[in-house]
Amino acid sequence: MSEKDKFDRDSISNTLIVAIGLSLVCSVIVSSAAIVLKPIQEKNEEEFRQQIILDVAGLMEPDGNIEELFAAIEPRMVELETGEYTDVADPATFDALMAAGDPQLGVAIPDDLDIAGIGRRAKYAPVYLVRDGDAVSQIILPVYGKGLWSTMLGYLSLEPDGTTVKGLRFYAHAETPGLGDQIDKQPWLAQWPGKQIFDVGDEPQIRVIKGAVPADAPDAQYKVDGLSGATLTANGVTGLVQYWTGPHGFGPYLKNYREDS
Ligand SMILES: Cc1cc2nc3c(=O)[nH]c(=O)nc-3n(C[C@H](O)[C@H](O)[C@H](O)COP(=O)(O)O)c2cc1C
Repeated sequence: MSEKDKFDRDSISNTLIVAIGLSLVCSVIVSSAAIVLKPIQEKNEEEFRQQIILDVAGLMEPDGNIEELFAAIEPRMVELETGEYTDVADPATFDALMAAGDPQLGVAIPDDLDIAGIGRRAKYAPVYLVRDGDAVSQIILPVYGKGLWSTMLGYLSLEPDGTTVKGLRFYAHAETPGLGDQIDKQPWLAQWPGKQIFDVGDEPQIRVIKGAVPADAPDAQYKVDGLSGATLTANGVTGLVQYWTGPHGFGPYLKNYREDS
């Protein structure tokens, strides 16, 4: 038998062995990289969220250390139904989206109340308090809901009166660049500070309208200019802001807060 007959590099079995071996080696490399990089990725995501919270609070400084700046913010856990603070979970590690899907930690949102289009929510949620001495100077709420293509996640900051908006920022969404992603851009974002969530009563009045808010509109304090060519994303923003400040979201918490202060 010749050497060639004994070892045929191009035989089907050798080709298969090389192909399978190579795929195994590659999959081990990719999985190991994913495992090794996961904590770094999670830390970066957490740091990005903290940066957005600092940004919405107006506390972000150029070249500032995010961890040090964020230490000035007090995270607290709230039970949404009662609006009371609770120690049932750690706000630093609480995953609201995961908890929403958990039968023990989440609740279904009745269809007629689900204006954010999220189906379920966690029973608990973190809030972030900014203090000036002992007094609360800002209340920052996590908010999320469906846009046209994606779930839009962000933070809404309120003045200590619990109704005046200090700012709104999103940290994750997949709306279309140039259309829906105007929610991340100035000058649209600059309209939010000073707007009012509530009139009398507990139902949020704030909304993004279609077109521009007339300067002399009597209810201009509850209205934000529309997003040109992206009304569906804009409607999603109205839905999520109204849901999370409303009676099924942080409404009971904000009501307690307004009554206490
Ligand atoms: C490829 C494509 C991407 C779009 N992306 C968005 C989007 O991210 N957000 C949005 O509201 N509308 C988006 N639209 C437009 C919507 O279909 C719809 O026309 C628009 O929201 C209506 O807003 P308008 O009344 O201000 O024009 C997109 C349309 C196309 C064709």
